Amino acid sequence: MDSLRPALSMSSKKQALATSLCSLACLFLLSAGLLLAVGSHQFQAPWGRFARVQKAPAPPLGRGHHDVVAAPARDAGAGDLDGDQEEDAGPAPAPVPAGEEDGECDMFDGAWVRDDAAGYPLYEAAECPFQSDQVACRRNGRPDSGYEQWRWRPRGCGSRTRLGGAESLELCQDKRLVFVGDSLNRNMWESLACILYAAVPDRSRTRIIEDAGAEIFRAMDYNCSVEFYWSPFLVKLETKDDQSRALKLDQLPAMLQRTMGADVLVFNTGHWWTHTGKLRAWDHLERDGKMVEMTGEEAFNRALRTWARWVDHNVDPSRTRVFFRSVSPEHKSVSWCYNQTSPISNGTVAPWFPKSLVSIVERNIKSMRTPVTYLNITHLSELRIDAHPSVYTINQEGKPLNTEQLQQPIKYADCSHWCLPGLPDTWNVLLLASLMRPPTNVHLLG
Ligand SMILES: *[C@@H]1O[C@H](CO)[C@@H](O)[C@H](O)[C@H]1NC(C)=O
Ligand SMILES: *[C@@H]1O[C@H](CO)[C@@H](O)[C@H](O)[C@H]1NC(C)=O
Ligand SMILES: *[C@@H]1O[C@H](CO)[C@@H](O)[C@H](O)[C@H]1NC(C)=O
Ligand SMILES: *[C@@H]1O[C@H](CO)[C@@H](O)[C@H](O)[C@H]1NC(C)=O
Repeated sequence: MDSLRPALSMSSKKQALATSLCSLACLFLLSAGLLLAVGSHQFQAPWGRFARVQKAPAPPLGRGHHDVVAAPARDAGAGDLDGDQEEDAGPAPAPVPAGEEDGECDMFDGAWVRDDAAGYPLYEAAECPFQSDQVACRRNGRPDSGYEQWRWRPRGCGSRTRLGGAESLELCQDKRLVFVGDSLNRNMWESLACILYAAVPDRSRTRIIEDAGAEIFRAMDYNCSVEFYWSPFLVKLETKDDQSRALKLDQLPAMLQRTMGADVLVFNTGHWWTHTGKLRAWDHLERDGKMVEMTGEEAFNRALRTWARWVDHNVDPSRTRVFFRSVSPEHKSVSWCYNQTSPISNGTVAPWFPKSLVSIVERNIKSMRTPVTYLNITHLSELRIDAHPSVYTINQEGKPLNTEQLQQPIKYADCSHWCLPGLPDTWNVLLLASLMRPPTNVHLLG
């Protein structure tokens, strides 16, 4: 492991010290709304290290998608969305001073536009050899590819969110980006690894490393590292000697220590708390080493409080940007992902995740000392009923579904994870675009 964790060089040690010394002052200035300090080097704010990539829209990546991909005819939904072109023409605006765009640009509100000409998908499926079978929809026989070509266009953000592989690589230079959470965060990790891998000029200088439960993508020529730690509840799930499983609401898994010092931390939790019956991963809840009984909501709230306290005590906000990704929607039952080939265009989606749990997340984030950027991707993802693997996934033997299984979508379709290339690429574009803005702009308000 040590060889993967380059020690801090002398100069970055000094810089880290300088930034942490400044952090109190910076935070004070920020909370007072005095964002003028951002440009100055003495007040090197954490996002300052990301801000220099803010520039022109991603050029088409020149890999000839238009030839390779037969774009399906535009449907009515795409036509409607395309009527609204105001932000797409012309060069990107100059970097906007922090604070100035407040109120106009909400990256998570907007519309999906069909955009195969502007670099979507960000990589071809075949360009990501390490992609896991579960979400490699093309490899598993998905015949349509239109779902790869939609771009999220935030309302009022101009072209500030149009990042491509090259910009992503530049943002990752000399950085450690760490994802912690469930398989949906793994989906997001894998997407970012694919985006970066496809953009690296010399792909032989990259690695996928499995290290004691962590999965790590490294681009050596960029000293860029993207890591995933599986922890679906964030708090510790422990299997006892008698094989019973305890969910310890006041403890975090030891591996969380390994994420310390990362430049970016992206957390999520959600789905596993809603599992019931046989799917429930724990047999009992524990606090102070004792078995306790409480409602699911109360347990969820306690777990998030444990996590929030850990972040507040262990994360240095002058060095690390913290994100919490909102719930990734499933498309089961009423709005079912099977056979869907275009996004929902009329905006009516039945939310499936308990609103009470969403409020618990938002309340806990608001109460934290550490600025946590809420990646509010739930709504934009709800529209992407077309973007799940559906039956183009694998069965329990790890093989693509056979003819018989393909005929039983109710049993076999995966309407929770997302095909790659696909929707999680957009989550990452929004994550990287958020990195270039001060955390206060995107921190939960109110
Ligand atoms: C998340 O985004 C949705 C859709 O844009 C919006 O309705 C909701 O208020 C946002 N939530 C928060 C906490 O910002
Ligand atoms: C490599 O990246 C790490 C962060 O992951 C950073 O601490 C270190 O200083 C970088 N090394 C060099 C030589 O820049
Ligand atoms: C799903 O799509 C396939 C191929 O287009 C079609 O043959 C099948 O009837 C569809 N099934 C349903 C339930 O719509
Ligand atoms: C929205 O579109 C879906 C199908 O895409 C349809 O079932 C639903 O009735 C529509 N809702 C409204 C309000 O138009």
